[in-house]
Amino acid sequence: MKILVINGPNLNMLGVREPEIYGAFTLENIQRELEQYAKTLDDSIELEFFQSNFEGEIVDKIQNALNTFDGIIINPAAYTHTSVAIADAIASVNIKTVEVHLSNIYSREEFRHNSYIAPKCIGQVAGFSKDGYKMALFGLYSALK
Ligand code: DQA
Repeated sequence: MKILVINGPNLNMLGVREPEIYGAFTLENIQRELEQYAKTLDDSIELEFFQSNFEGEIVDKIQNALNTFDGIIINPAAYTHTSVAIADAIASVNIKTVEVHLSNIYSREEFRHNSYIAPKCIGQVAGFSKDGYKMALFGLYSALK
């Protein structure tokens, strides 16, 4: 089972970026923990990680996932609240996708309460910090197996 894990803009800055909101860990830490967790679920899970600060690159990566990946985990970061293009890309490939947020976007500023991406996903996890990625993988794995 091949799962693509996409992280959007500024998530490469984790560890430095607003640690009081996003924590002191890095994206590398999240990815390493998720690799370890995947092994405990099923040896056949293969994860590929992709981070970009560019909307079009994320759209390209989702399009190229067609016929290659079984599922997608995505933290679209700020594009969550703006990107019809990423939402359309997910709908186009019709690959089961889970949206993740480190923070609880619903307890923050009003503009973070809307997600263009969530309606195209099988589910959303928000507010559980880096554990959210594991929750997303568990949910996606259960939906796919
Ligand atoms: C985020 C929440 C977004 O609103 C924000 O723009 C991010 C990170 C999160 O993981 O909590 O960059 O997606």
